[in-house]
Amino acid sequence: MASVIDKPILINGKEVKNRILMPPLVCFNWADDDGFETVDRQRHYGLRAQGGTGLIVVEAAAVSKEGRLAASQLGIWKDEHIPQFAKIAQECHKHGAKVVVQLVHAGMKSVGDKVFVPSPIKTEENSKEYTPMTLEDIQKLKEDFINAAIRAQKAGLDGVEVHGAHSYLLNQFTSPLINKRDDLYGGTMENRFRLPLEIVQEIRKACGQDFIISYRFGVNDPTFAEDKHLAQQLEKLGVNILNVSNGIGIKNLEVPQDFPFSFITYMGVELRKAVNIPVACVFGIREPKEAEYLLEKDLIDMVAVGRALLADPNWTNKAIKGEAINLCYHCKPRCKYSVDGHTCPWFKTLNF
Ligand SMILES: Cc1cc2nc3c(=O)[nH]c(=O)nc-3n(C[C@H](O)[C@H](O)[C@H](O)COP(=O)(O)O)c2cc1C
Repeated sequence: MASVIDKPILINGKEVKNRILMPPLVCFNWADDDGFETVDRQRHYGLRAQGGTGLIVVEAAAVSKEGRLAASQLGIWKDEHIPQFAKIAQECHKHGAKVVVQLVHAGMKSVGDKVFVPSPIKTEENSKEYTPMTLEDIQKLKEDFINAAIRAQKAGLDGVEVHGAHSYLLNQFTSPLINKRDDLYGGTMENRFRLPLEIVQEIRKACGQDFIISYRFGVNDPTFAEDKHLAQQLEKLGVNILNVSNGIGIKNLEVPQDFPFSFITYMGVELRKAVNIPVACVFGIREPKEAEYLLEKDLIDMVAVGRALLADPNWTNKAIKGEAINLCYHCKPRCKYSVDGHTCPWFKTLNF
């Protein structure tokens, strides 16, 4: 019987060959201080594309140097960065995968000394200069996102993913817990949502109708009712897929007892009911039977498989063929692959 995973899906009219999405996974310590890779990403992503992954979201790339979430992180803030993404695009396309890159500004979680925030914040840490953003700073930020998207398009990628989750800058703007502005970009729900919506709208304008725009959606900021509204607005303004993960807000929706996955996965499933574009859910999916459960029951359109794809680049092909995968250990306190790649217990089998 054909695997439920092995079913194409249209994202903005482009056929993605199956239902597995590789979510963005920063390879820490695999880049220099100027945003250039120091370890070959063409091979890293190429292996996952060759292994059958339908849609690859390349790890968070910083739209400006001051917006980096880590000192060694891929950059997409200048044209010189384009070739490193062009190689990834070529290699993934060679193996029939679609590929987009995630764009991020880390805001208050940035690594620089001068750190942009939506509004003043109180913090124990006083080594950083937290700078509430002026309207000019916001305009510059929008231009940084648009220019990064244009670079991604020039590199031959199929699209971009705007990072609106995990308490990075756009998530800081949408969350009333962080955003205390009293101008057009803060206060009411409409004002807090304005910045990501403007960014999406302007990327669509700059990159045309054919370009995929994904949005990494951070749920629960602050309520599911607001999440639904943001999701619908994003859809209206041209987002083609929601890649749902966690936001800043506290858990305020009960997961039914018979739902066998995490709260984060559940939020993806619930948010899907509010929109008409494809939605991917994530978190802790290690085994093919878990992805199959979500797809068979038509709970979701795509399943994001993160750490499990680090442990086994051939996860998708093996899942489709019913072969045994390298089972990710879900190492604690954090994924060992994330340290430098080489520390993953499966590394020696990864043909890297
Ligand atoms: C090493 C590592 C790096 C990550 N980097 C990113 C990132 O760049 N952008 C992002 O939105 N999420 C990032 N995440 C979160 C993943 O995309 C994913 O949501 C998370 O790993 C849960 O999925 P999983 O249980 O299938 O691994 C990262 C997670 C890990 C473990």
